[in-house]
Amino acid sequence: MKKTLRWVAVLWVLSCLSWLAAFAQTSSHAADGESHPWWQHAVFYEIYPRSFADSNNDGVGDLKGIASKLDYLKDLGVDAIWISPCFPSPQVDFGYDVSDYENIDPMYGTLADFDFLASEAKKRDIHIILDFVVNHTSDQHKWFLDSKSSRISPYRDWYIWRDGKGPGQPPNNWVSTFGGSAWKFDSTTDQYYYHFFYPEQPDLNWRNPAVKGAMFDVTRWWYKRGVSGFRLDAVDTLFEDPNLQDNPINHPGKNAFGDPFEQNKYNTKLPEVHDILRGLRQVANEYDAVLIGETWTADVAELNQYYGKGNNELQLPMDFLFTMVNKLSPAEFRKQIAAVDAASGWPTFVISNHDIVRSYDRYGDGKHNDQIAKLMAALYLTLRGTPIIYYGEEIGMKTTPPTRQEDVKDPIGRKGWPKEKGRDGERTPMQWDSSENAGFSQGTPWLPVPPTYKTHNVADESKDPDSVLEFYRKVLNMRHTNEALLDGSYKAINESDANVLSYLRVYRGQAVVVSLNMSGMPQTADLDLKANGFKSARSLLATGKSEVRGEEVSLEPYGVFIGELTK
Ligand code: NOJ
Repeated sequence: MKKTLRWVAVLWVLSCLSWLAAFAQTSSHAADGESHPWWQHAVFYEIYPRSFADSNNDGVGDLKGIASKLDYLKDLGVDAIWISPCFPSPQVDFGYDVSDYENIDPMYGTLADFDFLASEAKKRDIHIILDFVVNHTSDQHKWFLDSKSSRISPYRDWYIWRDGKGPGQPPNNWVSTFGGSAWKFDSTTDQYYYHFFYPEQPDLNWRNPAVKGAMFDVTRWWYKRGVSGFRLDAVDTLFEDPNLQDNPINHPGKNAFGDPFEQNKYNTKLPEVHDILRGLRQVANEYDAVLIGETWTADVAELNQYYGKGNNELQLPMDFLFTMVNKLSPAEFRKQIAAVDAASGWPTFVISNHDIVRSYDRYGDGKHNDQIAKLMAALYLTLRGTPIIYYGEEIGMKTTPPTRQEDVKDPIGRKGWPKEKGRDGERTPMQWDSSENAGFSQGTPWLPVPPTYKTHNVADESKDPDSVLEFYRKVLNMRHTNEALLDGSYKAINESDANVLSYLRVYRGQAVVVSLNMSGMPQTADLDLKANGFKSARSLLATGKSEVRGEEVSLEPYGVFIGELTK
């Protein structure tokens, strides 16, 4: 009986501690008297480290390069940087094949360089988020080398090994998302191992508690070194059906790699994923850290699952559905924004990243691209939620894919050419100035610098009040200081307008209106002021000749109007 009481007491203390940890997270960084976790008011910025800034002129960016640009980032209005993987790696998938989770690849520097970057970032109140590749390791990771060495290796069950169906036949029909069978035969032990991505990226077996323990410890190790969270890579691929049932084929034909169009029914989005996310979140809560998810979902109902019940999984699952509205359509954006605004957690907006064609090309019409880049900035930086800027978006960088197969660096581009050109185009070096190699490196950059560096670069745009960069700076400055933009509710207005997307952000009687002309013609749009209890609007930021006239706003082609409303 005594023992039972002692256990009850221990459990009570533990539950108090976890409640306190959760409370500490939600009550930090309050800016307006209410509690807001720091990541809700922060602007995030994704850095692809190979391409950001090269301090030692070997043609590849590095951590010292990032440190040298912190003032630029601070001045832009960035509060947190997410660095794509910078851990030791054979670089088959440019860092998404990690061979040691607790170190820095010599190409990017040393742990001392990381510590320097972390302390310099801290001085400027910039949080560091690392990219945690949870689904797989490199085939050169010591765990995998041991695992493949023998069927009785202590690490054998850390990966997914199976017998083939017969000679030369993989265990089932699963295809890798990067082309070919998802199984690779290894003659050392005469079995196949499973890889959702490249064969050099064997999947970890998350059903093994030892894997879970080791991976959770990796996050603790980095939290203790000062990181403020992780972007979790490819979370939906963590688990596979233990019975290895064949995937159904979606429709006839072959994809860019010559594989059938498979539905990943038995090897993605298994419910067990959520147990792991809850566990990772518990650890994150101990450190006031944030978890961002690479969450490709079919709809917002699926996105909601990643927030978890009572918000106990990811704080910031990215809404990629937003990136799939690939045309300037007010109706489609309205629909998607409303859906994610009604989601069960705090929205996260991205318009580009290192895997998708840049927004400059997805939305640009070839004539008004800079204006459209400003329009898109005004959109994702004024919505209710946390925005993540992809490096170079703020200067209007263009996707520049290779034109010849022999120049392609991304293996999927070499394999899938010409249908799949790979992701080099959106990973080109950051354009800092108009000097040789755009000021990125004095060596030969690992990917060619696009010719647009002459017109689109940080140095020149900083001097031009009408540049895309200056527009980003202005919107971000406004976002950081305007309570309606930070915490206000979202309300669509003038919803039947086919050309202009307009909405209000309302916070304790204060309101901001945003009107975006998504067409190439001048437009006049009703601001619905009276209907919403407001009298007039005063311009906070507008492009070109866009201005308010009474109840209406007149917008130039692709024009932006952001105004403050008075009662
Ligand atoms: C998603 C990452 O964003 C992508 O770049 C990578 O190739 C795959 N996951 C595999 O890690």
